[in-house]
Amino acid sequence: MPIPFATIEAVAARLPLPPTPAWSYPVLDAFAGCEVVVKHENVQPTGAFKVRGGLTVAASLSDAERAAGVVTASTGNHAQSIAYAARRGGFRAVIVVPLSAPPGKVEAVRALGAQVVVHGATMTEAGGRARALAAEQGLRYVDPGNDPAVIAGHATAYLELLRQRPDLEAIYVPVGSGTGAAGACLVRDALAPGCRIVGVQSAAAPAAYASWRAGEVVDRPCETFASGLATATGFEVPQGVLRARLDDFVVVEDAAIEAAVRLMATHAHTLAEGAGAAALAGLLADEARPAVCAIVCTGGNAGEHEFGVLGRGVHGR
Ligand SMILES: Cc1ncc(COP(=O)(O)O)c(C=O)c1O
Repeated sequence: MPIPFATIEAVAARLPLPPTPAWSYPVLDAFAGCEVVVKHENVQPTGAFKVRGGLTVAASLSDAERAAGVVTASTGNHAQSIAYAARRGGFRAVIVVPLSAPPGKVEAVRALGAQVVVHGATMTEAGGRARALAAEQGLRYVDPGNDPAVIAGHATAYLELLRQRPDLEAIYVPVGSGTGAAGACLVRDALAPGCRIVGVQSAAAPAAYASWRAGEVVDRPCETFASGLATATGFEVPQGVLRARLDDFVVVEDAAIEAAVRLMATHAHTLAEGAGAAALAGLLADEARPAVCAIVCTGGNAGEHEFGVLGRGVHGR
């Protein structure tokens, strides 16, 4: 096991965050035909589960790394997570964002006091620039998908969830780089071996799914509107966990994610960004969904292009 369960428990015990709610909504249950427990990571201080990763990275820094600062690349929620942790911990954070990053998320990173460097069209180019800055300026590079501290931090959401609801039969997890899904699998193995972990990815950015199917990291086009799911490549470390442990993977069209954004608003009183609603889209697409399921509303940082879909009504009319 790449990250021992005891490490995840220790990380969770030190995390300076209260547990997020996990509850269900009768109208959503009726719509889905099963109990749908919603794990509300959208209420985190940065609006997304990724804050768990940033705070875990911060706790893992040596004195020298803390003095030098950190650098990472992200389209938004991981960026806010690192910026939040840096402000709280009093260290420097440099965030490289691609030109495609949603303006609202970039503004939030700046408001948290991090230094923003806009570079390249894609995350691949932004990541390259972040690694170069780390080498030039002696910063600690935080890989958004492959850093074990990030994965251990994200795993704490699933530790909380399976402690809140040990009776879950399936958990639907949106997948971009796969850190959240990898964390879910590691926790499930220790706490609830009978619970299925199902990854959900957009058909418009299916690199993680394709990597899981191929058994090796591959690249795919990345055209989804859901910025949290906008990855063009698989990530080696989470894929190493998912390969043997993920039970299933559902790929959904962006239109189904848009419909799920609307359903989260009308049936669960929740503003979810596209990535935060993707788990619901995956659950609804899965004909084998069991009676007691959870979806993780991973984020609520909807840009205008994401909450604009709300105007169209539940059934797209
Ligand atoms: C709101 C939201 N959900 C899901 C994901 C996907 O998580 P991961 O990259 O860990 O697979 C992200 C990634 O940024 C996100 O911001």
